[in-house]
Amino acid sequence: MEFNSKLLKGLVTTYGPSGNETKICNYIKEQIENYVDEIIIDNLGNLIARKKGNGKKIMIAAHMDQIGLMITDIDDNGFLRFTNIGGISPIVSLNQHVIFENGVVGIIAMEPMEDISKIKLSNLFIDIGVKDKKEAESLVNIGDICVYLSHYSENENVIFTGAIDDRIGCYVAIEAIKRIKNYKNDLYFVFTVQEEVGLRGAKTSAYKINPDICIALDVTGSGDTPKAKTFAVGLHKGTAIKVKDNSILTHPKLRNVMINIAKENNIPYQLEVLEYGGTDSGAVHLTREGVTSGVISIPTRYVHSTTEMVSKKDVLNSIKLLMKLLENDLNL
Ligand code: CO
Ligand code: ZN
Repeated sequence: MEFNSKLLKGLVTTYGPSGNETKICNYIKEQIENYVDEIIIDNLGNLIARKKGNGKKIMIAAHMDQIGLMITDIDDNGFLRFTNIGGISPIVSLNQHVIFENGVVGIIAMEPMEDISKIKLSNLFIDIGVKDKKEAESLVNIGDICVYLSHYSENENVIFTGAIDDRIGCYVAIEAIKRIKNYKNDLYFVFTVQEEVGLRGAKTSAYKINPDICIALDVTGSGDTPKAKTFAVGLHKGTAIKVKDNSILTHPKLRNVMINIAKENNIPYQLEVLEYGGTDSGAVHLTREGVTSGVISIPTRYVHSTTEMVSKKDVLNSIKLLMKLLENDLNL
């Protein structure tokens, strides 16, 4: 399997902050519509693509929303104040490029500060390069959301870009949708909305589908950078099979099947115990009477920054593990 750089570049450069996923939804729909039996978009905007089969209902969830900055105020000189949509850090944001849905670009700048370590989002503003409030208002409105502008680059080993969280999960799902032939169950690939503001799309889509099993696809951290907090997951060491994060303790039976399938197929894997964060399976596993759930994580450096990093090999191994799982009957 070759790394499909064109697809990933398309995914990370298409606009789609939480609650405004129409553009990214349309982009993903175009990529998969010839490979699935049915596509539904639910009331919240979740894109649900089904590959019909007999057997159990398997929900595969990857969130298509990204973090963003929502405009709260426009001052007389046309400078914008904002609040966060999802986990936006003031330090990461400083001097970064942002882009709005209509293509308007700005940079995030800071008021003069005595002690920069005390920086908060309220010390920052967005400069979209206008002369006054009137001109600013002709380009953006209160409530509009901008996202960090993704600059995509790669070398032999890694991808450098924004929005890896979680367009890389979408990428893994799309590549599996295009390739998988001998699947054993009834597959529902869900590209969820509003994960970054509290797993909201996963909640409604899981209720609708009523799956027997859920496999979420999302990024996790990496403990292999200088002086990083102890965390036994790193880049280039394989796909990560989640044991826990703050939203879920993955189902041991499903987790063991994942481990065994990885071993049988010589897919390098790492076990992930994440002491913070959560993902879609956190909401799905508590749906109705409970859903047996697990997570395939993609080890990622610099999550929620403007340039996140993943290993191409880890991504390809994540696709492989997902496909082998879906080719299994998953009789747990
Ligand atoms: Co995130
Ligand atoms: Zn995520």
